[in-house]
Amino acid sequence: MIIAIDGPAGAGKSTVAKILAQKLGFLYIDTGAMYRALTWKVLENNVPINDAQKIIQLAQGIKIDLRNNSDGSLTVMLDGKDVSLAIRQARITQFVSDVAKLKEVRQVLVQMQREFGQKGDCVLDGRDIGTVVFPSAAKKFFIDASAAERVKRRFEELKVLGQSVSENEVAGDLANRDKIDSTRETSPLRQAPDAIYIDTTDLSIEQVVAKMLGFIR
Ligand code: CDP
Repeated sequence: MIIAIDGPAGAGKSTVAKILAQKLGFLYIDTGAMYRALTWKVLENNVPINDAQKIIQLAQGIKIDLRNNSDGSLTVMLDGKDVSLAIRQARITQFVSDVAKLKEVRQVLVQMQREFGQKGDCVLDGRDIGTVVFPSAAKKFFIDASAAERVKRRFEELKVLGQSVSENEVAGDLANRDKIDSTRETSPLRQAPDAIYIDTTDLSIEQVVAKMLGFIR
């Protein structure tokens, strides 16, 4: 069984997806982490962000492994190296949407996501899971929250990670990524017609998870 979770940046998708997967005993697949891992590789190789050909080449040779740890955390392996923390850095966040908008990049990563998904029951979160990656997913959710609430959540999250960014910078990043993600030509961020929409602005994590479980069971 496949559960697809899509929505804009900072809405809390990955938090609820992880808990949901744990509660159901499903595999959790963070597709955003895959685009972030590729972006890390692009920057590591000093490839200019506008060199689409080079980025596509890197994508075609990439090896990504997502490991679900028993404590609920996720380890992201890129070409055998643990990049779990590195891919959360601001320099990655800044460029990830420019990498993710490339059609050929998406072809490679979507194919990989489908292969991961075929391994068994899983929860996937991203932008195009219900629309493109698994259009026939058993359950689809579109997780949203007001822009102000999403900024607040991401700001708190980055503080915990020890990243000193201002709320203004976070707001700028979310707005910039949402714009690129929802206006790109290839599989833009969209709610699938058959997805359940949840506005989480005034809900706790537990309440969101309970709501989702209600729809699944
Ligand atoms: O920061 P946040 O957790 O909201 O984003 P993410 O899930 O880590 O995804 C990072 C970026 O990857 C997004 O802003 C998109 O540009 C891209 N992405 C995508 O294009 N398609 C997906 N299925 C997942 C992520």
